Amino acid sequence: MPTHLIVLAAGTGTRMLSDRPKVLHEIGGVPILAHVLAAAEALDGERVIVVGGDGDAVSEEALKTDGRIRVAEQSEQRGTAHAVTMAAPELDGKGGDTLVLLGDTPFIRPDTISALGKARADGAEIVFLGFEASDPARYGRIVSDGTTLLKIVEWKDADDATRALTLCNAGLVLAGTATLLRLAAAAGPKNAAGEHYLTDIAALGRAEGLDVRVVTCAEEEALGINTCADLARAESVFQARARNAAADRGVTLQSPDTVHFAFDTRIDRNVVVEPNVVFGPGVVIESGARIRAFSHLEGCHVGRNSVVGPHARLRPGTKLGAGTQVGNFVEVKNAEFGEGAQAKHLTYIGDASIGRAANVGAGTITCNYDGVSKHRTEIGEKAFIGSSTMLVAPVRIGDEAMTASGTVITRNVPDGDLAIARTRQKNKPGFARKLLARLRATSDTDKAE
Ligand code: UD1
Ligand code: CA
Repeated sequence: MPTHLIVLAAGTGTRMLSDRPKVLHEIGGVPILAHVLAAAEALDGERVIVVGGDGDAVSEEALKTDGRIRVAEQSEQRGTAHAVTMAAPELDGKGGDTLVLLGDTPFIRPDTISALGKARADGAEIVFLGFEASDPARYGRIVSDGTTLLKIVEWKDADDATRALTLCNAGLVLAGTATLLRLAAAAGPKNAAGEHYLTDIAALGRAEGLDVRVVTCAEEEALGINTCADLARAESVFQARARNAAADRGVTLQSPDTVHFAFDTRIDRNVVVEPNVVFGPGVVIESGARIRAFSHLEGCHVGRNSVVGPHARLRPGTKLGAGTQVGNFVEVKNAEFGEGAQAKHLTYIGDASIGRAANVGAGTITCNYDGVSKHRTEIGEKAFIGSSTMLVAPVRIGDEAMTASGTVITRNVPDGDLAIARTRQKNKPGFARKLLARLRATSDTDKAE
């Protein structure tokens, strides 16, 4: 395993026509960089250095992942070798091996990193990662002799014969730290892009007689994200991996291709996910739950044996206890449901706690916002909220209390009480027929047919 890691992550997504740092575009609901840093974390380097743009949000994202990460700034993107030299002050004299990861290449597997380490342990001084590309596009081409790497030629600088090569550079390189820093500093901007290419350390190393090798990985792992089309491809690779991983953990996906996962989705075994479900970031589902079709969940915890949906929306801060039911067209935000609580139809529950075994009737709304602040609604255990109750927060409904249908609740309801707040119904005998007759008699056109 490498001693140190450098993650190259500076620059905006020029070829994405984007002003944002490229590595902050998202896959599975989190920045591309977060995927790379998760892999880096697994490698447990002594020093992890992320090279980001001057004062951009990349360093913030890196530190959010792990406060021990060091950030080096590269104010002008003068190439991958130049970016490595920006990290040099953190590594000078530190010895060991350094692995360079690209912040736009999120799918490298741990086994692949091990294979690089193995080549290094076998005596190679510099090891690049290559892959056989079905569509080599603009990747750098590797000129090799077996596992010996002779040079890497960037697409922009390659002649037709070199462009015809299908062995491409994935961009990762493992080398002795001192060699890496020395050769990266020596890589000059003598190329079509006028950049300092990290790939040049291959030829520079060869010229010194160093053992430079290439180890290969699957094309899917090497996917580098430069364009919006690449980002879309990466999303589908991520989703395919996430679906397979879920199935391996005993999750039933009835229509896997229609279920969308986030990077951190955690679903226990024995959960059934029906078609067309979207998991945003921060979702945990306990075993035995069923997520019915067309539901959208983010930042929520679903307790065991609960049923969510169809067409439910769980927003951040939702915590459903065991055996709860949240049905169709129910939206829940920042609210807890006690064990067995139910809200099965057409309801908004926001900033609330619903007691164990309480039943929330159709059309109920927690009126949590007064235009300035949010307020909480508390519903006690085994309470029964009649259909179409408006709960004007802050308010508390006691244990085993009831509200009548169509009630607007503005004051607390004590335990065991029934609250009715609606005008009393009056029936006027025969009045409807009389009214209709009068209206028809005075109307110019008869629109009733
Ligand atoms: C690079 C490789 C190419 C390889 C491809 C694999 C070089 C010269 N080329 O090309 O051989 O096939 O990756 O995906 O290394 N970055 C910086 N500072 C810079 C320039 C880049 O931090 O000055 C970072 C970027 O944020 C990016 C990564 O380095 O995450 C790679 O840079 P990019 O410009 O995407 O290189 P490619 O042209 O894709
Ligand atoms: Ca790239």
